[in-house]
Amino acid sequence: MIARRPVGDGRTPVRAAVFLGAGAGFRVEDLLLDPPGPGEVRVRMLASGVCHSDLHVLDGDWDRPAPVAMGHEGAGIVEALGPGVGTRPGHLAGTRPGDLAVGDLVVLAWTAPCGACPACARGEGFLCVVPRGAGHRLAPADVRLRRPDGTPVGAYSGIGTMATHQVVAAEAAIPVDPALPVEEAALLGCAVTTGVGAATRTAGIRRGETVVVIGLGGVGLSVVMGAVLAGAARVVAVDRVPAKLELAREIGATDGVLAGDTPATRGELLRLLPGGADHALEAIGLAATAELALDVVRPGGTVTLVGMTPQGVRAGVDVYAFVERGIRLLGSNYGSAVPAEVFPDLAGLAVAGRLPVGRLVEERIGLDDLAPAFEALRRGDGARRVVVFDPPA
Ligand SMILES: NC(=O)c1ccc[n+]([C@@H]2O[C@H](COP(=O)([O-])OP(=O)(O)OC[C@H]3O[C@@H](n4cnc5c(N)ncnc54)[C@H](O)[C@@H]3O)[C@@H](O)[C@H]2O)c1
Ligand SMILES: [Zn+2]
Ligand SMILES: [Zn+2]
Repeated sequence: MIARRPVGDGRTPVRAAVFLGAGAGFRVEDLLLDPPGPGEVRVRMLASGVCHSDLHVLDGDWDRPAPVAMGHEGAGIVEALGPGVGTRPGHLAGTRPGDLAVGDLVVLAWTAPCGACPACARGEGFLCVVPRGAGHRLAPADVRLRRPDGTPVGAYSGIGTMATHQVVAAEAAIPVDPALPVEEAALLGCAVTTGVGAATRTAGIRRGETVVVIGLGGVGLSVVMGAVLAGAARVVAVDRVPAKLELAREIGATDGVLAGDTPATRGELLRLLPGGADHALEAIGLAATAELALDVVRPGGTVTLVGMTPQGVRAGVDVYAFVERGIRLLGSNYGSAVPAEVFPDLAGLAVAGRLPVGRLVEERIGLDDLAPAFEALRRGDGARRVVVFDPPA
């Protein structure tokens, strides 16, 4: 293992998975990272989860620039503070953005609210229109990563977590309880915050309610955890992969439905929950399952869409039935959560054993194992694969 210490000019050698453009795939590359600028910190990455959103990017489902270091679900250790970043004694987890010390375990946020735009003023930082790290840090003033030939390389969502080190805005690095295992810390960065938040914050599931969760990847299983945490009476988990139903039961789902064709799945769900569920949450990103969710809630029930389709995909609504039955339809971005407020709480719940985040970790892999990990994600095989970076020699 080669120690990756800053080279003589203050830059740090980095290995990163770099997205090369839609259809062009990715490559693990050796890059150089500038020191943190004002308001930034350098983070030595410890772990990065592999989320289906990364696969959407690779597949060209979303319009994203290249080259960028991939990944948006990661945790690491603060290694250096840029000018103007506050420091404080000790190691206690704080929630004030910028309140960081070298050595903190931080979870990186893929939306770090600017604090000043209309969405932030409403307290909806997850909808911030100009988050820190916007533009994937490809604007000339924001570039910190470069190929040895000087080509600028961006950082996906401002954090590009599939890299041994990153420089990020201080607001994107949220300190959490250092007792949290690093793989679990990484998963708070996307799947857990997204899924638990969709259940508890966006949908607002209450004690005793009935819930259908469609799709049991890292996000959907986190929705199940959120529903259980909220005290749902029934949590019916749906996936096309039988092992996922088992996993969902282990984390608290009361029932499992193996997805077949849509009419059969709808029939089975309505047999289990006659009259429909209080809530249905879709965590795949398919029009057909979004429509299924609308069909399986009771009159007055709430449908929450979490899964993301390729850009431009539309789903159909039976408008008469929708209106007549008084259905509520919500979209959930980042679990309607402001990361600096929510990450420390979720970390506390995980450390206390109230949120079984560790059950999501299917396998620890290296950066060089990403290609098979993406193929596994495509098949729905396993919950989360997590890249774990070697500690420095
Ligand atoms: N809203 C947000 O803020 C947000 C954040 C993160 C991820 N996402 C999106 O959430 C979705 C899920 O992400 P993930 O990482 O959990 O994905 P994943 O691929 O790990 O999980 C998807 C699951 O759906 C199952 N599935 C696929 N097709 C199915 C079908 N027709 N019927 C039943 N089950 C089916 C798969 O077996 C798998 O278990 C993605 O679209 C991702 O982009 C949204
Ligand atoms: Zn994600
Ligand atoms: Zn904002």
